[in-house]
Parts: sequence; structure tokens; C-alpha cells
Amino acid sequence: MGREYFIAGNWKMFKTSTESREFVQALAGQFTAAPGLTVAVFPPFTALEAVRGLDPKVHIGAQNLFYEENGAFTGEISPPMLRGLAEYVLVGHSERRQIFHESDEDVNRKLLAALRFGLKPVLCVGETLPEREAGRTLDKVHGQLEKGLAGVGDADWAHLTVAYEPIWAIGTGRNATPEQADEVHRHIRGLLESKVPGRRIPVLYGGSVKPENSLELLAQKSISGVLVGGASLNVESFSAIIQNGSKLLSA
Ligand code: 13P
Repeated sequence: MGREYFIAGNWKMFKTSTESREFVQALAGQFTAAPGLTVAVFPPFTALEAVRGLDPKVHIGAQNLFYEENGAFTGEISPPMLRGLAEYVLVGHSERRQIFHESDEDVNRKLLAALRFGLKPVLCVGETLPEREAGRTLDKVHGQLEKGLAGVGDADWAHLTVAYEPIWAIGTGRNATPEQADEVHRHIRGLLESKVPGRRIPVLYGGSVKPENSLELLAQKSISGVLVGGASLNVESFSAIIQNGSKLLSA
């Protein structure tokens, strides 16, 4: 099977709807579609309508969702509300887990709700620095995957993406080395292979991905793409990362 890359930008709590629209228009002018290349941005909820359908090369995702369909849940956004606005949705980002106290069970309910309503979840997992230093990285990631993926149906695996984001590498400028990322990615691939043999589920790396380190990270066999935070907020730096993916695809 040929290589495929998924290059995703998580904008977090940045960009108004006008800024998001201008960004997507500018970004679309910076790269050409290529077989095996998927580019997506994850703007805030408030910008989803503004970027809808702007350019088929730029796929759209949401950063979060709630697992109920509707009800008295002030401030929450349900899966049916996202349908038609977003193709993908992040679940279990470390900022949601740490700042908003989402448990593995919450993450699992969100993931299943997303699938139920035709959204493609990107399940984020990753360890803290103390966990890495204590040699608990693989255990932590393994547990998050087992709990996060509980109950996924046979037909749903095709719509799933996993993102490994070591928390100590997020927003710190300190990325995992390609070898560190590769070790965890191989573990994740092994676990996924045991669940759904023969199906290649994309596993992205995230954490201080920049134009300068993206080529080497993407060149790792076990890495199927990147989930970019800070460097995805700027058209030049995000498109430079996309170009690196294209370069590797045509190599
Ligand atoms: P940075 O690229 O800013 O480290 O953020 C990574 C991230 O959290 C993407 O979801």
C-alpha cells in the first residue's frame, strides 16, 4: 500500500470566523491536491460555518463535542449540530483532559457519539513528563486507547484516526525525537493491529511540530501524519509542513 499523509491543524482557541475564512482561502492557494494527501484544519466551533465548503482540499474538523444528542447541557455542542459543518472531530485532546477534567470514559462516550452521527473522530492520547520519566509511557497510552476505543463497531474502524501527543511536547517547543515518537507509534500500531488485523488506521504525531522538524517526523514509517498546534496558525508555516508531506509522497 502506498503512503498516505494526514496533515491536521488544531487551532485551539484562536481565530475569529473572519480570520478562519481568510486563512482557509489563503492556505488553499498554497498547495495542490495529491493522491494520499489529506489536509484538515480544526477551527473553533464559531468559525465552522464560515469555512464550510470553501475548498475541497481543506477538510474541516471540530475540536470537541458532547456525547448527548440534545438536552439541558448549557454551553455544549452535540454531534448532530456538527454534522454538515465538520467531517472530523478531536476527542480526548490533553487540554480537554487536563483543564476540563475529561475522563477516559467521557472520551469514549464522545468517540462513540461522533461515530454514531457520521463524524470521524481523532482520538488523542499521550503521557505527561513525570509518566515518561517513570517509564510509564506505553502503559499510559495503552490504557487510554483501550478505554477510549471500547465498543467501537466493526464498520467504524474505517472512520477512526489516532493522534499521539506527548503532553510534555505540546506548546513547549520540545518535540519528541523521531525515535521517541516511533517507539510509541509502533506500540499503538501493534495494539490496533491486534484489534483490527490488516486495517491501517492512521496514527498522527503531535507536539511542537514545525516546518523544521516535520520532514524527519513524517519520514518515520510508523507516522501517518501530524497534528499541528502553534505552527498551524500561520499560513506559511502550516503550508511548509504540508509541502514536506507532499515531498515525501512524491519521493
Ligand atoms: P503545538 O504544535 O503547539 O505543540 O500543539 C500540539 C497540539 O496540541 C495539537 O493538537
